[in-house]
Amino acid sequence: MTYFERVLRTPLLRPGLICLAVSSACGSNEHSSRGSGAGAGGIASGAGGIASVAGGVASVAGGGGGLSGGTGGTATGTTAGTAAVNAGAGGAGAAATSGGPGIGGVSGTEETYPVPTALPDETGADLWLRYPKVPVPGRLAQYQAAFTHVVSSGGGPSTQAATEELVQGLSGLTGTSVMLAAAVQGAGAVVVGTPTTSTLIAGLPLASELAALGSDGYLVRATELQGQSVIAVAANTEVGVLYGSFALLRHLATHSAITGLSLSGSPKIKNRLLNHWDNRDGTVERGYAGSSLWNWSQLPGTLSPRYKAYARANASIGINGAVLTNVNADAQFLTATYIAKAKALADVFRPYGIKVYLSARFSAPVEIGNLTTADPADATVQKWWADKANEIYTAIPDFGGFLVKANSEGQPGPQTYNRTHADGANLLAKAVASHGGIVIWRAFVYSTAAESDRIKQAYEEFQPLDGKFAANVLVQVKNGPLDFQPREPFHPLFGAMPKTPISLELQITKEYLGEDTHLAYTGPLYEEVLKADTQVNGPGSTVARVIDGTLQKHALTAISGVSNIGSDTNWSGSHFNQANWYVFGRMGWDPDLSAQAVAEEWVRQTFSNDPIVVAPVVGMMMGSRQTLVNYMEPLGLAHMMGTDHHYGPAPWVSTLAQAEWNPVYYHKADAQGLGFDRTATGSNAVSQYASAVGDAFAKRATVSDDSLLFFHHVGWTEKLDTGKTLWEELVRRYSQGVDDVGHVRETWATVKGRIDAKRFGEVGDFLQIQHYEARWWRDACLSYFATFSKLAIPAGYAAPANPLSYYQGLNCPADVKKPRCPQVYTGTPSPAVLP
Ligand code: GCU
Repeated sequence: MTYFERVLRTPLLRPGLICLAVSSACGSNEHSSRGSGAGAGGIASGAGGIASVAGGVASVAGGGGGLSGGTGGTATGTTAGTAAVNAGAGGAGAAATSGGPGIGGVSGTEETYPVPTALPDETGADLWLRYPKVPVPGRLAQYQAAFTHVVSSGGGPSTQAATEELVQGLSGLTGTSVMLAAAVQGAGAVVVGTPTTSTLIAGLPLASELAALGSDGYLVRATELQGQSVIAVAANTEVGVLYGSFALLRHLATHSAITGLSLSGSPKIKNRLLNHWDNRDGTVERGYAGSSLWNWSQLPGTLSPRYKAYARANASIGINGAVLTNVNADAQFLTATYIAKAKALADVFRPYGIKVYLSARFSAPVEIGNLTTADPADATVQKWWADKANEIYTAIPDFGGFLVKANSEGQPGPQTYNRTHADGANLLAKAVASHGGIVIWRAFVYSTAAESDRIKQAYEEFQPLDGKFAANVLVQVKNGPLDFQPREPFHPLFGAMPKTPISLELQITKEYLGEDTHLAYTGPLYEEVLKADTQVNGPGSTVARVIDGTLQKHALTAISGVSNIGSDTNWSGSHFNQANWYVFGRMGWDPDLSAQAVAEEWVRQTFSNDPIVVAPVVGMMMGSRQTLVNYMEPLGLAHMMGTDHHYGPAPWVSTLAQAEWNPVYYHKADAQGLGFDRTATGSNAVSQYASAVGDAFAKRATVSDDSLLFFHHVGWTEKLDTGKTLWEELVRRYSQGVDDVGHVRETWATVKGRIDAKRFGEVGDFLQIQHYEARWWRDACLSYFATFSKLAIPAGYAAPANPLSYYQGLNCPADVKKPRCPQVYTGTPSPAVLP
């Protein structure tokens, strides 16, 4: 069974979502989506395929499992049922998921999604905030009765943002004009506010529940007011009201039940930031979605409407901070001219609860301050930063603070002056402390001198500094010790600095995961690292518990995602890349959400609630990251991408100036085998983990196949636990990866007519590119590794389409911002696993 098949056998979290097919078995024009009963289809596998259905029967028992924690908090639907999915003929047998509280749940109703007749083209500009009219008559009538007006009697800009959103969203979903009112005017009121801004909210018996929610938390509650049934959206702060409004809209946009509605939530992580790697010239480092959203030349005078749209989108998923500028920092951003521009953005973002931050270039006192040194111990330097902070806070009173990349990849830093990272961080921390600001100091460092193992350096430099950072400093650590690879183990610094708040840095922009074109939903990657158990305080010491502060008792907590947002109309370079922005926000709010639950709510809001769309598309997403791992870097291989652009395969590169820039440094292919020995016989990087974890990585018997070559040099003909030799398993995985992209294309074809033609076509075009490029990756890597293994491609697998020299001679992409390799778009990429 392929990974993809396994994933697709996982039942979806809402009832009725079981028709997962590439055949017409699911293709009745109308179908039951809710309640109990037999459905056509079922999750069944064909040989090597992701979902070829042999007309199985699937049944769903029970009412509403719901999107678990769909609102980031607790929620109850009308039925807390258990959904059991029995796969159809040829399928995987029974699988069950327990329902429990969720935002879904429909008691006994049956809903039928009509086949759309005329779907207008969409550009993707509306993201997941489309609010289309509910197409199911029963549910539409229910929503129309429950939501006729929004009641708000006070409050400031954040309340206004909330009511604006509710009016827009409810009007769209109900297909009627939902009005704003100052008082309850009959049935259908949504009453919003805090106990301070709204006497109506103050009069409800919610005080003790609100007290437990903190400043960003919210309650959405069906209740009685002035003899009317109303929905209350209540919070302690106006931003909490905004979050509650988005939670209600998400609940409705995913077509969830409203009887006895009760949602609540509050974020587990305090600072949830996007890191924009945007430059002054409008370029975006590792950006594949056009140019920077920030139009520096027009700011502060001209405010693009997209700034507000950006803030809305972020608030809808709980993001509350934006570092506007590249970590490879430019001191000019700290001049008065640019502070005024940042202020203009901060003013737009403020109602949406979003603070701005800036990257600080450590040498700024020299570059723009006319000082002769940037030494943290120098009093003039300390004064310069204090003055600079005062200047910024005068313009932007709620400025979040500084993000710093220091002494890394050519960036200046305290080590230039023989000071430590802690000395540097504390210099800036002191400057912003009195204003309530924070400093996020990155741990992404590696040596310019050849080291035994690049991945060990961050731990070596930072771990000894534990306890030396000021109270308002977080150390920001990438998910893995290398650099945003399709897969790598969790970073050993998580949990290893118990006295220091640690922020997790994830990459949304997919620099190493196919950039704009390849479909790779990063939810499973994020979930994998959040659930990784560091074991530093025994079992259960997960990365999620490290970064939410509960493991090591930190109140200062943060998570960052390197943004994939740009000037493209669809924001993220592709429709599916929007899901990665979405899942980052949702998991930042609640790191315990599952990738699948988030994928499901995203698909419902972005494409359709029709199960005939939701099930296959969620399946495509959930398997996509592993598929990409398979065709790019299976079995724990890493960093084999082309020089600089990190696109396309180049495992042969060996001549770059620094050893650790070369792919050969990472895979270490030789006549004996493949992989980097990081056990005690090699670099001993395993020793940086808690012993239970390090020992498990170090032993061939316990290391997972997914991390095998990251930690071990394995002989070409050694048997793996799959029963195949390394060479056979490598060929199998590369081949499966290619063919699984083919299966995704087939699956996508089944939703034709259920998604507007424009987005359907654009996704299809990108999947075609991905399919060809997956084959390119496979053929290039296997041809290259065969020069070491001296083994032939095993029977049952296609031979590489071209000789190694062809792949080594390819010169693409022509444009690193929209990378493509048209030279390889010929022939048929599949089958790679021969039938
Ligand atoms: C990667 C990326 C760089 C970036 C760096 C960082 O190496 O390729 O563009 O500057 O990460 O995170 O600082």
